[in-house]
Amino acid sequence: MKSLSGKRLVRAAVKAAGASYSPYSRFPVGAALLAGNGKVFTGCNVENASYGLTICAERVAILKAVSAGCRTFKSLAVAGGKGQAARPCGACLQVLAEFCGPDFPLCLVALDQADDIERFSLGELLPQTFALK
Ligand code: THU
Repeated sequence: MKSLSGKRLVRAAVKAAGASYSPYSRFPVGAALLAGNGKVFTGCNVENASYGLTICAERVAILKAVSAGCRTFKSLAVAGGKGQAARPCGACLQVLAEFCGPDFPLCLVALDQADDIERFSLGELLPQTFALK
């Protein structure tokens, strides 16, 4: 299967944000995770009246992928925020680090500026990963 360019993965993340269930924060987030086999797994944030039960877009995408049998990933695009691209939270980065190394690439965009892609490695965003070592 043909792998997606960064731009196409970003577009998938923006589209995924359209399904966001975020009536409490009104802060939609979308994520698109490119798996090693070329498949793309998308996610959006899903909030709850019991606020702490909210699940972030990135973790939805990662859990969808892993539960479908994928454990190797090429890149992740995240779309959230207006004016500036939202940064993935520490919990999502830690979950990503379970499957991806420090060089893993992330593309971040604001929902109103999808052409302005900020690129980071996982190691830049989470320099000190928790590990059972
Ligand atoms: N959110 C994400 O979806 N991903 C993150 O990495 C950080 C925050 C969501 C959770 C909540 O629904 C909203 O953004 C505001 O915190």
